[in-house]
Amino acid sequence: MLGDTNAVMMTPAHQFPTGVILDGDRRRQLMRWDGLIIEDDYDAEHRYGRAPVPALRSMLAERVCYAGSVSKLLAPALRVGWLLVPTKYRDRAIAAKRIADLGNAALPQLVLAELMTSGELERQLRFLRRRHVRRRDAMVKAVREYLPGATVHGVAAGLHLMITFDAGFSDVDLAAATLKQGVKVQPLSWHCQNPYPPGLVLGYAANTPSDIAAGIETISRAVRRL
Ligand SMILES: Cc1ncc(COP(=O)(O)O)c(C=O)c1O
Repeated sequence: MLGDTNAVMMTPAHQFPTGVILDGDRRRQLMRWDGLIIEDDYDAEHRYGRAPVPALRSMLAERVCYAGSVSKLLAPALRVGWLLVPTKYRDRAIAAKRIADLGNAALPQLVLAELMTSGELERQLRFLRRRHVRRRDAMVKAVREYLPGATVHGVAAGLHLMITFDAGFSDVDLAAATLKQGVKVQPLSWHCQNPYPPGLVLGYAANTPSDIAAGIETISRAVRRL
């Protein structure tokens, strides 16, 4: 699988946009490989109704650079994240970071440390999970009702769903048509290198259940006109 590759970057807990989790076979293949793994543990905490997927870093500490951020837990504008680096890469990673951005503001990091130690961050996560589940369920229900021909993917984690259509229309045209009606979605083909059925990437985290239902109804009207 990895041939002469020296390093891979991956999102084992949740791939964007499919929502796929790196399965046991692939994990075992990686354990046998001796290159550097950059693990973007993206969306790992936003999971619903299933046990957390252990980070690769927890099993391969000396071969995995582990990255995460508070973008989806607090706010992307904070620009606060972390990178756990194997000892042998540590000095080079610090030097590269310094050259890349001359460092981050200390105050947001101190505030984050306080939120972590006080338990407030955990509380925020519990609050978000409950809200996201309601919004995700509203979206799944609306897709079943208004878009019965669509297949839903990636419900177990994340802040979005992927839907695919067993049809011949262009998802770029569909996304353009829904945008004209005030509903912004991403066509799945933006994320594909190989031919794939038409589909959409639908975020649910930032909208109320009733707005989500209205948005999906708008998409269904656009589908009927294609
Ligand atoms: C794959 C992936 N990793 C990480 C992030 C978070 O990026 P950042 O922490 O720079 O906001 C995103 C944002 O959507 C993402 O899609």
